[in-house]
Amino acid sequence: MCGIVAYTGNRDAYPVILKGLKRLEYRGYDSAGVALVNHGLKTFKKRGKVGALEESLLGKDLQAVAGIGHTRWATHGEPSDRNAHPHRSSNGKLAMVHNGIIENYSLLKQDLLKKGYAFESDTDTEVLLKFIEDIHVSHEVSLEEAVRIALKRVVGAYVIVLLNEDDPETLIAARKGSPLVIGIGKGEHFLASDASPIIEYTKEVVYINDYEVAIVRPDELILKNLGNERVTPHITQLDMELAAIEKGGFDHFMLKEIFDQPQSIFDCLRGRLDANMGSIRMGGVDKHLDQLVNAKRILIIACGTSWHAGLVAEYVFEELCRIPVEVEYASEFRYRNPVINEGDVIIAISQSGETADTLVAIERAKENKAFIFGVVNVVGSSISRQSHAGAYTHAGPEIGVASTKAFTAQLVVLNMIALKIAYTKRTIDQHRYLHLINELNEIPDKVALILQDTDHIKILADKYKDARDFLYLGRGYNFPIALEGALKLKEISYIHAEGYPAAEMKHGPIALVEESLPVVFVATKDMYHDKILSNAQEIKARKGKVIAVISEGDSQFQEVADDVMMVPLSDELVAPLLSVIPLQLLAYFIGVSKGLDVDKPRNLAKSVTVE
Ligand code: G6P
Repeated sequence: MCGIVAYTGNRDAYPVILKGLKRLEYRGYDSAGVALVNHGLKTFKKRGKVGALEESLLGKDLQAVAGIGHTRWATHGEPSDRNAHPHRSSNGKLAMVHNGIIENYSLLKQDLLKKGYAFESDTDTEVLLKFIEDIHVSHEVSLEEAVRIALKRVVGAYVIVLLNEDDPETLIAARKGSPLVIGIGKGEHFLASDASPIIEYTKEVVYINDYEVAIVRPDELILKNLGNERVTPHITQLDMELAAIEKGGFDHFMLKEIFDQPQSIFDCLRGRLDANMGSIRMGGVDKHLDQLVNAKRILIIACGTSWHAGLVAEYVFEELCRIPVEVEYASEFRYRNPVINEGDVIIAISQSGETADTLVAIERAKENKAFIFGVVNVVGSSISRQSHAGAYTHAGPEIGVASTKAFTAQLVVLNMIALKIAYTKRTIDQHRYLHLINELNEIPDKVALILQDTDHIKILADKYKDARDFLYLGRGYNFPIALEGALKLKEISYIHAEGYPAAEMKHGPIALVEESLPVVFVATKDMYHDKILSNAQEIKARKGKVIAVISEGDSQFQEVADDVMMVPLSDELVAPLLSVIPLQLLAYFIGVSKGLDVDKPRNLAKSVTVE
């Protein structure tokens, strides 16, 4: 949520920052801005996407030795030029970008107003900057010291980066709760909310920890804690290639990421699942196998699409491992008083590894001495570091705001963990274990088959794109996929869509059924097949339009449905990995046919680092 890029070094700062902001735009895109320092400090801000800022700056002299940039997802104050970052101090010498929320900004603002400070924006960021300025100027302490003093009084989550006209090559940054990566070059440093703006310049990075302040100069990186003690920067190597964050010939990142799935699922299985040997090896699981196998209960916490992966996992874990599972929205979990007992295992699922609600939910669970297992995509992210153990999903960078390949990778990892536990506990026999290993192993090829021909889904998208509402129905393992299909459509096309358990539709949603309502059935072959077929007939009897995701060769459903999208036959336990693919494509094609920006849907952000 909000993207930050900053640079100090021997290159011209603006092009580096602009390119970086474009890479981070998935984090927020309601306004953008840069502050550049050369002979004096200049700030440029614009409502809209980074492209609008770029256009407004064409032909301007932007030469700079250092600079900071921001792409915003509004929290305090509407999207506007005025509320865009960077903000400036009263004396005009400092500029600051911020990602996060300052919860006690109102109190701080009242004090500052009494001292005569005026405010140009409605943001909490400007309040924090002027609070820092006040300490810096009136207490006559260095800017670095002022930042430390200020942050001790701040409640909330933040990453800040400050630029100072009086010390043009020095950037001061700090974090609590939001991510910040520093790339180390030769005579230059790059700061960013994630590694994507940095990757083309250097692979050596330092992830800043909470309550650390970084003083960054072209040739020097000093890390200190809020107590002014030096902290040794821990340098890690980025394991990511530039090509992975580019569109590679596809029109949109979302489409590229849907088509990445045969490979991303393969990458997720690689080195872990060995179909020939009939084995699964996962470092984080193997090391803590006792804890997982003896879990009295598994509590899954996540948000958004990751929560849907958790719901599928609930069905899978209970079926295979006979361990009770509860799945909870992290945002609810963190504020109630959940009962956590000894022997409970918490599985936190997150693509970004930075979702604020999930992160805080983990903290709460840790206070209750729970064992935290993270299922995370972004290597080195906060959730991966906060977990006691975990498994990366290895889906590669996901840039499209609507999650696709991260979801299928989450399902694969969760399936492998469940199989491993079940086999160790002997809650499944060897035959079923080996069968499911083979089924998982075949998923990449089956997904590739679905993606071989997508034209019919494009035609369906055109046919149904003007519907006002959609209903998605599924049962069993496919119920969460109905929820996910509806979420994808809402996110990308702004069409109202609801996901429901197919049988439950009789208790409400059936009242919505009429000729103009498309009802998408997620109905691959499983033990509920006859039941869901009856549900489809109930919709037909009321003149609703039935679109169905079915297994190849399912002539029964084909007879009832108006339109079908077929997937290869598979065991019902792994079927969600296939049935979700046509639904991702349907949402994508509808979004595109409506002329919408599917990679950057309105009001959304990829990584929600505010609560
Ligand atoms: C945002 C994204 C979703 C994502 C959710 C949870 O809402 O737009 O795609 O599912 O956050 O994010 P996480 O990174 O924790 O999986």
